[in-house]
Amino acid sequence: MSPPLAPSDAADIIRRDTYTKQDIVRLLTAQAPDTVEGIRAAAEAVLLREIGDAVHYRGLVEFSNECAMDCLYCGIRRGNTAVRRYTLDRVEILEAARWCAESGYGSIVLQSGERRDTAFVNLVEDVVRSIKDTTRSARLPRGLGITLSVGEQSPETYARFFAAGAHRYLLRIETTNPGLFARIHPAGQTLERREECLRSLREIGYQVGTGVMIGLPGQTLEMLADDVLFFRELDVDMVGMGPYIVHARTPMAEGPQPGRRPEDTLRLALLMVSVVRLVMKDVNIAATTALQAMDPEGREKGLRHGANIIMPQLTPAEARKDYLLYDGKPCMDESRQACRQCLEARIHACGRRIAVDDWGDSRHFRDRRGNKPAADGRGSAPETSQAGP
Ligand code: 5AD
Repeated sequence: MSPPLAPSDAADIIRRDTYTKQDIVRLLTAQAPDTVEGIRAAAEAVLLREIGDAVHYRGLVEFSNECAMDCLYCGIRRGNTAVRRYTLDRVEILEAARWCAESGYGSIVLQSGERRDTAFVNLVEDVVRSIKDTTRSARLPRGLGITLSVGEQSPETYARFFAAGAHRYLLRIETTNPGLFARIHPAGQTLERREECLRSLREIGYQVGTGVMIGLPGQTLEMLADDVLFFRELDVDMVGMGPYIVHARTPMAEGPQPGRRPEDTLRLALLMVSVVRLVMKDVNIAATTALQAMDPEGREKGLRHGANIIMPQLTPAEARKDYLLYDGKPCMDESRQACRQCLEARIHACGRRIAVDDWGDSRHFRDRRGNKPAADGRGSAPETSQAGP
């Protein structure tokens, strides 16, 4: 057992140019409020220095909860027969996209359960193309930035979505520890396959985001440190992480529960945000909904710990209640307008501003491309952020 981390120990580690696994593990052991605060303040300072005070929105449309997968932690897994399944039609998705563009959000995330059948792939491709076509305007000349989060697909499918106009993709690795990955997924799903998908997305030209759940049963600080090193090794552009939260109708609700108290899981999730900011510096990091599920101010805390992205809900309220990945999902009945106003106040209270009509690509991505425009004219926006009206 290492001794408890004092603020001066954390400061010594933070000053280093590159972090070893041991450094990361030590930072994650922080428990004393003043040590955690020192790490948080250092991460916030890196954020403000490297990418500034703008928070970028990605309007979130959970367009389908139909899922062919059976992940043991997830509320919309195939095996949960209590879920009412839905898929929004293209008109509903395009309506959400139009509202998103008109509200100045700049980018949209289309997320769903995982399917690979032709009807699904065609729907996604069609909707991506239509969103591009219908959201171009004087204020958004290239249309909405589109992020997809529709799971593991073939390289051909990823290439089709990219050609249709999606330019970012989120696919969480969930955990990089082979034993833990195998314990929380059915036999057919493998860590290798997920890594292949991430590399293929990267090759095609997407901005790639990944992430993990924090506080899984049996997950250690060493595993989380390996996860951070994996993000660095894969050189990802975006990271989304949140606490693991039990869903009562999943196999993992029956098994051994995480040994940590909720407040410890929340602290660790926020520490992970800070550590990823310190290690990766210029990537986009989301303040995720799962943080808010654990603490009404979870997203603000995420921002203050080094995150710069928020995903306001745009899923129609009727569908939202059927897209429950975990218990206690917040903002269930708020209208998208109410959600927008609530967020605005919260972000300003953190001393941050909201970027308007801007894709908000990560600086990491722009630098990695040498700031060149993408071959198709997309993917490397000049910085057009401005203060909100
Ligand atoms: N708790 C927290 N996050 C979850 N996810 C799925 N189920 C849960 C849960 N029970 C996350 C996974 C997935 C993302 C869409 O939601 O990390 O990649």
